Amino acid sequence: MNFPSQVSIVDVGPRDGLQNEKLQVPAAVKIELVHRLQDAGLREIEVTSFVSPKWVPQMSDNAEVMAGVQRKAGVRYSVLTPNMQGFEAAALSRPHEVVVFGAASEAFSRKNINCSIEESIERFRPVAAAARAAGMAVRGAISCAVGCPYEGDIAPERVALVARLMRDIGVQHVGVADTIGVGTPLKVQRALDAALRVFPLEAVSGHFHDTYGMALANTLASLELGIWHFDASVAGLGGCPYARGATGNVATEDVVYLLHGMGIDTGIDLDKLVDAGAFISQFLGRKPHSRAANALLAKRETP
Ligand code: HMG
Ligand code: MG
Repeated sequence: MNFPSQVSIVDVGPRDGLQNEKLQVPAAVKIELVHRLQDAGLREIEVTSFVSPKWVPQMSDNAEVMAGVQRKAGVRYSVLTPNMQGFEAAALSRPHEVVVFGAASEAFSRKNINCSIEESIERFRPVAAAARAAGMAVRGAISCAVGCPYEGDIAPERVALVARLMRDIGVQHVGVADTIGVGTPLKVQRALDAALRVFPLEAVSGHFHDTYGMALANTLASLELGIWHFDASVAGLGGCPYARGATGNVATEDVVYLLHGMGIDTGIDLDKLVDAGAFISQFLGRKPHSRAANALLAKRETP
């Protein structure tokens, strides 16, 4: 098996992780989380989203959070931008990368961003053009790449189709997202293969929610294909407010434990990452949703 020798992780905790929290998390706590993540060695952080505050109130402090982050050299900060209104607001915060987010499922597209897949591409087109003209990178997320809460199983061809549409408007990288965590390794490999028909290996990432406990297995299945970009969320925070029943992303701590155990480099200090996860979990009043983090925290307490 030819696994990659290094893996790059985007911690999406401050965005995907917190967007679904009912209680408003203060901007200062979000900023502190970003600082702790970068101190732990994360080189890519998805900080916030420039979406409608009526749809996702938790992200309404987007500009304040971006302004409060003390940027560290070598770290790339990304934000979600569903349309030009979001992009124009985001641009003032100077992210390195913007993320347009579409879906392989028509029904989910409508629920999440209030338009069809085709319309979403037309909204993304000027965003991608403006971002690239301003020197920002453009990533695309393909939600419901294996299953949809409204449409059930999603065929890999749907993923290839959206990947092609995104590539054609200037998106440089796509994330294959199992939004509701229903994927199992072979299905996830088929969805990734579909994206790999359109984008090169270095431009495809895995974004796995862990609803059914499959996210680590799906990560390993992705590594088998050579995929070396992943999104993960510290302490397993997260879930999409428009994906009923979906829980958090795979915990970054668990992914890092897996990768380091396989001799794969991430540049991340697992102990510091566990501290970052403990910090936000303590604020939220619960234990981290990470088996590795809880094991390491318990080990620290053992004399
Ligand atoms: P819409 O209602 O179709 O938009 O929403 P509109 O253009 O008709 O505008 C309606 C109102 O929204 C107007 O305000 C606009 O100003 C405002 P009003 O006049 O009524 O006061 N508006 C905005 N405000 C702030 N920022 C903006 C913006 N755009 C319009 N960018 C829209 C379309 C996309 C805005 C809406 O559906 C929305 O905000 N959806 C958010 C969905 C979301 O954030 N979901 C979670 C993130 S995606 C995710 O988690 C999945 C991912 O992790 C991968 C995976 O796991 O699958 C990425
Ligand atoms: Mg997600």
